Amino acid sequence: MKKTGYNIIQFSLSKELQHGMMVSILAGELARKAGLSEEQCHELSIAGLLHDIGKLEMAKYVYQKGQKPLTIEEIKYVRLHPTLGYAITSQNHYSDFIIKSILYHHENYDGSGFPSNLKEDEIPIGARILRICDVFAALISDRPYRRAFSWEKAVAIMIEEIKNFDLKLFLCFLEIIHDEIICERDCAIIWRSVSVSLV
Ligand SMILES: [Fe+2]
Repeated sequence: MKKTGYNIIQFSLSKELQHGMMVSILAGELARKAGLSEEQCHELSIAGLLHDIGKLEMAKYVYQKGQKPLTIEEIKYVRLHPTLGYAITSQNHYSDFIIKSILYHHENYDGSGFPSNLKEDEIPIGARILRICDVFAALISDRPYRRAFSWEKAVAIMIEEIKNFDLKLFLCFLEIIHDEIICERDCAIIWRSVSVSLV
């Protein structure tokens, strides 16, 4: 398939839901490993499920485009999805912890992310957790332009880009994904069952 702007961001509700469930599981577990309260672990599971909800707003616009590649201006618009997600979850009275985790889930630890170029501890811990889980879940999933990476390769890729992540949280994350309970029981089984029911 030819790699175009449209292909890269094309929207599939079933794939988004699968991705959201994966991020939700990982984020809840990473929050627990990082010592967050049970309430925050629960809320981060919700944030994981909803973190890309802003893409639903974009989908209406993207589908109107048919198969045409997106222009630079439109790609910039796509990058607004965390802000759109923030607006949607705020209107629906989610907690401050959840909506800020969603708003900042594309911020990088070194300040190179979006929408606000926050860095290090300026980024709420919930968003730092989502950032790690979101990238990992994306790497181990098929995309229109590439096949899924193995878990080991995904970790290697993330280490190459470690500047994007909170190192302490990343080390906690490595402990989690090497835990057979999460890897084999929760993620893999849910991943398979969701794939069967939604595809
Ligand atoms: Fe996102």
